[in-house]
Amino acid sequence: MSASDEYAISVHGLTRSFGGKVVVDHFDMNVPKGTIYGFLGPNGSGKTTTIRIMCGLLIPDEGEGQCLGFDILTEPMKIKENIGYMTQRFSLYEDLTIRENLDFMARMYKLKGRRGRVDRALEHLGLAGRAIQLAGTLSGGKQRLVLAACLMHEPRLLLLDEPTAGVDPKARRDFWDEIRRLAETGVTVLVSTHYMDEAVQCDHIAYIAHGRKTISGPALEIPRQVGLSTWRVEGPDITRDMIAIVLIMVVIVAVALRRYRRTLD
Ligand SMILES: Nc1ncnc2c1ncn2[C@@H]1O[C@H](COP(=O)(O)OP(=O)(O)OP(=O)(O)O)[C@@H](O)[C@H]1O
Ligand SMILES: [Mg+2]
Repeated sequence: MSASDEYAISVHGLTRSFGGKVVVDHFDMNVPKGTIYGFLGPNGSGKTTTIRIMCGLLIPDEGEGQCLGFDILTEPMKIKENIGYMTQRFSLYEDLTIRENLDFMARMYKLKGRRGRVDRALEHLGLAGRAIQLAGTLSGGKQRLVLAACLMHEPRLLLLDEPTAGVDPKARRDFWDEIRRLAETGVTVLVSTHYMDEAVQCDHIAYIAHGRKTISGPALEIPRQVGLSTWRVEGPDITRDMIAIVLIMVVIVAVALRRYRRTLD
């Protein structure tokens, strides 16, 4: 089986500098088809730059790979036609109405049956009654509108760059419900986020710091990979709980001391 059969994205050794500063440094990523893949990392760590390289918007200084089977270096147009990309900043026209924005996207992708598609998207968004409202005047629903616009051409891969930054908890939940529904239909989703409650909803996770990948793998394996353990204490008797907590703390301190001694040996 080739990489493009198994992975929606498979890139290796991506490197990119700006003004002599390396911001993406020999970065590898394999995104299995049909998964929700979380891309985590602090501000300025290189997430957006990596995403832009992977979808053919930015040429890397080094590295290679494929996105939906298309070469990121030689077939950027094919990639752009076939993916949905939600940029970090609101990317629709604020001074066009909701309908006009969706219609514009449909025209861009030269979609047949445009009017019907726009109507269905409006219906799905629950915005049919507000189709003539200016997009810039939407509050909570902006993110879902951008997502709907990215989905007009029914892409099999979605790249979402911090799609819920600054959005209230209810709107974030609605947005993630939509992402999960899409993933159930086989769409692959790469999503960058700073929110841990979103990270735990991902099937796979990669963490980037200073342009380098520090960890990646199935989300359930990440705690083991980084050596994290979780304890939960339950019971009706608070005294008993307290004794249990103290005992656990003694164990933690003992383990830490033993590790510390080993590093001194
Ligand atoms: N076009 C550019 N010109 C110069 N420097 C850039 C450019 N694009 C990104 N950078 C720099 O590259 C580094 C990585 O930026 P990038 O936007 O990829 O990080 P990020 O992980 O997406 O951050 P954030 O979480 O804040 O969105 C930053 O130091 C940024 O200032
Ligand atoms: Mg970014």
